[in-house]
Amino acid sequence: MNINERINKATDYIKSFDTKNPKIGLILGSGLGDFAVNLTDSLTINYKDIPGFPTSSVIGHEGKMYFGYYNNIPVMLMSGRFHYYEGYDQKEVTLPIRVMKNLGIEKLIITNAAGGINLSYGEGALMLISDHINLSGSNPLIGPNMEEFGTRFPDMSDTYNEELRTLLKQEAFKNNIDLKEGVYAMMSGPSFETPAEIRYLRSIGADAVGMSTVPEAIVASHCNIKVIGISCITNMAAGVLKQKLTHEEVFKTAQRVKNDFAKIVEIAIIID
Ligand code: HPA
Repeated sequence: MNINERINKATDYIKSFDTKNPKIGLILGSGLGDFAVNLTDSLTINYKDIPGFPTSSVIGHEGKMYFGYYNNIPVMLMSGRFHYYEGYDQKEVTLPIRVMKNLGIEKLIITNAAGGINLSYGEGALMLISDHINLSGSNPLIGPNMEEFGTRFPDMSDTYNEELRTLLKQEAFKNNIDLKEGVYAMMSGPSFETPAEIRYLRSIGADAVGMSTVPEAIVASHCNIKVIGISCITNMAAGVLKQKLTHEEVFKTAQRVKNDFAKIVEIAIIID
């Protein structure tokens, strides 16, 4: 099956369920999957049952899609995503975004775990993504353009929708949540960065670094879905502190801040 066929097959399969026609999509990053318990009346679909869908292999990523209500608002939630470092090409990594578009999603909330580069951040900080730097070494739009989704050379200057960011910051402030705002750099991973790479990233204007989100945001932007990106700074990036980086630490910090994180996601769902 080529990628177009896979997108259509997956869409048709999901449409055969009562999905409640959500306009809002949510992708949960490493250790952040717990948010799914907040949905009511939810329908679960395992990625492995969806024809054409890739399957996720990373610990802390569940591999399930949920359709349910959050405060009476229908949402589509992905717990577990596909990473470039798992060996998928970026077209596969972003296949779910195009399925979301086919299902009618208009606003996509993308979350991730990230390393803090900005020295004013600390472990457990939450950062609204204002922009990104794609250092993954690829781009999900390489290859024939899918005209039905968008144009060959899409503008990327408002990928992380400014109006939504302004609203989100106002609401976070009202709720006493310290929300940083900054630039997310994507590296391919799976090795964490070296201290020299982190110094380089800081010098080019990155505030946080991670191994996801950018391909998804590019494809969402291409097909005119508004994006809100939220990073949980699960650790300070390599070389900032005198300690080794581990995936366990990423997971633990994400668990520790899950209440504030859930509140931010709730705000992101509600604002319009
Ligand atoms: N680097 C890259 N990706 C990450 C990190 C990091 O320090 N922490 C969580 N995801």
